[in-house]
Amino acid sequence: MASSGLVTDEADIEIREPSPADHEWVARHLQAWWGSTTIVGHGGHWDAARLPALLAIRVEQIIGLATFEVQSVDCHLVTLNAIEERIGVGSALLAAVIERAAASGCQRVWLTTTNDNLHAIGFYQRRGLRIVAVYPGAVDRARQTKPSIPQIGNDGIHIHDELELQIKIG
Ligand SMILES: CC(C)(COP(=O)(O)OP(=O)(O)OC[C@H]1O[C@@H](n2cnc3c(N)ncnc32)[C@H](O)[C@@H]1OP(=O)(O)O)[C@@H](O)C(=O)NCCC(=O)NCCS
Repeated sequence: MASSGLVTDEADIEIREPSPADHEWVARHLQAWWGSTTIVGHGGHWDAARLPALLAIRVEQIIGLATFEVQSVDCHLVTLNAIEERIGVGSALLAAVIERAAASGCQRVWLTTTNDNLHAIGFYQRRGLRIVAVYPGAVDRARQTKPSIPQIGNDGIHIHDELELQIKIG
């Protein structure tokens, strides 16, 4: 286990960077969660399997993944997934990404999520992120590039739009 990890207070969740041995796991899970390792959204597309990442580990099992990209003063959180939900994985990964971004001199962490993802929209707002833009039809446009993006998402909501959220840091 990499020594760069930090151990959170809750549920003994360790956050660490993936080792080369984790890359197959990362790619396989991104594919399963997002239909492809390529994340398509407002402003472009990202091969999340090639981005910097953080893993959440508990009892030597990977239970969460964040991928992100630092560009100058912006840190883009590209994906965030918890395998075991509601035990603090998402919070620990988000905090770790913000910590890394601050250490890299970033002034904000931002992400987009889709209009159906009410759970994530609440999750991020409860952790201090603010909705700073809405992109009507952005998912409909992304679907032309990535047809595997479903038409209907959480709670039977048709997926059309992206919301951009951010937290200012530094
Ligand atoms: C959004 C997501 C990352 C949240 O991850 P998570 O690991 O469930 O998040 P946490 O456990 O840190 O927090 C979730 C809730 O569980 C609660 N919780 C955390 N530990 C807990 C515990 N030990 N006991 C009870 N509740 C707990 C938190 O308080 C939080 O509730 P709140 O938001 O009302 O404060 C996760 O639901 C997910 O993977 N969703 C699918 C992918 C997705 O939509 N990603 C985001 C868009 S990119």
